[in-house]
Amino acid sequence: MGKPVMKLHLIIGVLAVLAVSLVNAEDPYLYYTWTVTYGTRSILGAPQQVILINNQFPGPKLDVVTNNNIILNLINKLDQPFLLTWNGVKQRKNSWQDGVLGTNCPIPPNSNYTYKFQAKDQIGSYTYFPSTLMHRAAGGFGALNIYHRSVIPIPYANPDGDFTLLIGDWYKTSHKALQQTLDSGKSLPFPHGVLINGQTKTTFTGEQGKTYMFRISNVGLSTSLNFRIQGHSMKLVEVEGSHVIQNLYDSLDVHVGQSVTVLVTLNQPPKDYYIVASTRFTRTVLTATAVLHYSNSQTAVSGPLPAAPAYKYHWSMQQARTYRWNLTSNAARPNPQGSFHYGKITPTKTIVLANSASYINGKLRYAVNGVSYVNADTPLKLADYFNIPGVFSMNAVQGVPSGVATSVMPTNLHDFLEVVFQNNENAMQSWHLDGYDFWVVGFGSGQWSPKKRRTYNLVDALTRHTTQVYPNSWTAILVSLDNQGMWNMRSASWERQYLGQQFYLRVWNPVRSLANEYDIPSNVLLCGKVVGRHP
Ligand SMILES: *[C@@H]1O[C@H](CO)[C@@H](O)[C@H](O)[C@H]1NC(C)=O
Ligand SMILES: *[C@@H]1O[C@H](CO)[C@@H](O)[C@H](O)[C@H]1NC(C)=O
Repeated sequence: MGKPVMKLHLIIGVLAVLAVSLVNAEDPYLYYTWTVTYGTRSILGAPQQVILINNQFPGPKLDVVTNNNIILNLINKLDQPFLLTWNGVKQRKNSWQDGVLGTNCPIPPNSNYTYKFQAKDQIGSYTYFPSTLMHRAAGGFGALNIYHRSVIPIPYANPDGDFTLLIGDWYKTSHKALQQTLDSGKSLPFPHGVLINGQTKTTFTGEQGKTYMFRISNVGLSTSLNFRIQGHSMKLVEVEGSHVIQNLYDSLDVHVGQSVTVLVTLNQPPKDYYIVASTRFTRTVLTATAVLHYSNSQTAVSGPLPAAPAYKYHWSMQQARTYRWNLTSNAARPNPQGSFHYGKITPTKTIVLANSASYINGKLRYAVNGVSYVNADTPLKLADYFNIPGVFSMNAVQGVPSGVATSVMPTNLHDFLEVVFQNNENAMQSWHLDGYDFWVVGFGSGQWSPKKRRTYNLVDALTRHTTQVYPNSWTAILVSLDNQGMWNMRSASWERQYLGQQFYLRVWNPVRSLANEYDIPSNVLLCGKVVGRHP
């Protein structure tokens, strides 16, 4: 009886290897080499130091197709350790490639790391940016657009052209000086300007009568922006991977770390029109303009800028509630989005996360439930893999002690969480979760309580990777923990993230299985307590 069994094992083994390799083999590989350097650019009138990727500011646009495999060798020529993170790329079973300090050792100066990941089952407008120190304040960010496969229909006609707009607040101050301010325990000053694609003058040219896609992402450090185009309405089609009900908007609020995709038809008299991004909920309003140029236009931009909406959180919250899933349209996969009845699932756990700002030893720190995150010398993911105790603490976020900790929230693979972001501060919040998108089911003012669940949208809420939380308000999300790994939950506002408003969600399964999580990459960088270990 021994022989047939062995044979069967062999066959199963061969089949398993085939299955694993087939998953990737049918999907194309794209190879990149990106070199990160400092450079000088005149942005707000005077030359300043910026971070370039392959000599570009902002960094190169990464255009890929759903399920493409990306092999990207990142060479760090800065004088500081560096990492890029892929904002909104879910890294299925692959938190090894997430590019944050809890999952990866930073790439030392004059060294490199080759990221290997797949744009698995995703579609839409995303971004990448540096996750280390305050590098994001100097550049290194860019667009990551995931196009649909030809076999998968999208719920709108192919546009006649495709524009990417990275909008964000900007400082003339160097990233090291900004970091020094934060390290000394102070908040950053108000930004100096707003940029569109790293500039204050950009022109987008289209033909009258045609329809263009605008992919708009807020890559700034902390400020919510309102986006609008003079004389044109925008049809919202996609938000961070969700195909939404295609409403028309005169302007859209885009919070830090978020992306939206709209279609704009050039249906106005031939002329040039203002494109505007202006700061939201700030006493002083900073405004950036670009130009929408009709190719048959002889007339330069003129007239007043289109007006911003009222300084009212309520207006913005109402707009956010109109972002809804089109239940009958698909996203990156052929099945309709509405076939997943998320509202019928009973959450396994409810977690309330309250952000706060306080002074610890006289220095400003931000915290989640009273605990301010500090990075460990060893990535948490690697400490877990090599079974090294004492690197992180698993009961800090839910537990009692206040102060600083390397906090990790333990959860199990296949848990279904209700997370409530409670903002008792006067500042706008933007919360991001790596490895996932989540249903944004409710916004409300004041204190959340279980009876607020009656107001949730349990039918056609959209999924996204970053949600805003209004001042003295709450936002509720549902998230299906189907992606094993160590995932960063953080403020997308970089001052807050840097000074502790973050932690990691450990989505865990005690059985190590390649079906749930890929193996540690063979080229993994080692640092801290795992130096010299063999993967
Ligand atoms: C660094 O780049 C080389 C190719 O130039 C590559 O073979 C090597 O794997 C890269 N190192 C890491 C850690 O990915
Ligand atoms: C929803 O998606 C369907 C299928 O792609 C499409 O035909 C329909 O126009 C969309 N509805 C709205 C309101 O956007």
